[in-house]
Amino acid sequence: ALVQPTPRDLVGRRVVVSAGGTREPLDPVRFLGNRSSGRQGVALARAAHRRGADVTLVGANIGSEVLGLLPAGVRQVPVETTAELRTAVRGAAEEADVVVMAAAVADFRPVALSEHKIKKAEDSGPPLIELTTNPDVLAELAQDRLRVGQVVVGFAAETGDQSGDVLSHGREKARRKGADLLAVNAVGGGRGFGEVTNEVTVLDSDGATVRSAAGTKDEVADAVWDAVVDLLQA
Ligand code: CTP
Ligand code: CA
Repeated sequence: ALVQPTPRDLVGRRVVVSAGGTREPLDPVRFLGNRSSGRQGVALARAAHRRGADVTLVGANIGSEVLGLLPAGVRQVPVETTAELRTAVRGAAEEADVVVMAAAVADFRPVALSEHKIKKAEDSGPPLIELTTNPDVLAELAQDRLRVGQVVVGFAAETGDQSGDVLSHGREKARRKGADLLAVNAVGGGRGFGEVTNEVTVLDSDGATVRSAAGTKDEVADAVWDAVVDLLQA
């Protein structure tokens, strides 16, 4: 087989990738969280490192098996909550040419963190957990532009529903977030979330398609960096 040489088109670029899923504590032993493995974000960090970038991975609750896929040269900042992820990403973003938000960020967090383990009350029934909305880290980055010329990239896993198909939801989200690029992944029906083959469409901030790719998370990662490199060179 013909082996393509690795493009070294990110040499001299500093990039930040968030990965994994944030957790919002309820009490000392419980949290609200999601099933993100961090594999797509780790694939993005690996690909950027291979292409010559200086890479910082802000990793939310990623298992050691997945973290073990990272090359030694990638800087790692472990975080748990959305607030911690936001601080770490924004700190690193001040020096970055590119920020990719591949993390599954909890949309909501409990209003109160119980100091003690929540107990079953015999008489009062199950507790109601009051939630508040987390900041939108990606939308803030797109708005604030912490560094001149910075490219801001989001990820969205979408399913079709009564109100629209995967791409129409993705286009609406791309326009709402204001990021330079939004990589839209079709999930459900056996696609995404742990599956080997992913289908990704990269949209610009107007919701127009700039690139699409299907394949492994590594192939998706390279398609995203290809789109980023096009913007950096423009
Ligand atoms: N994101 C973020 N901060 C949040 C929520 C999401 O930075 N509080 C980022 C994710 O990291 C991802 C992108 O926004 O890059 C899209 O996430 P998604 O959950 O699809 O978007 P939401 O705006 O939360 O919309 P939805 O209601 O579909 O969850
Ligand atoms: Ca969300």
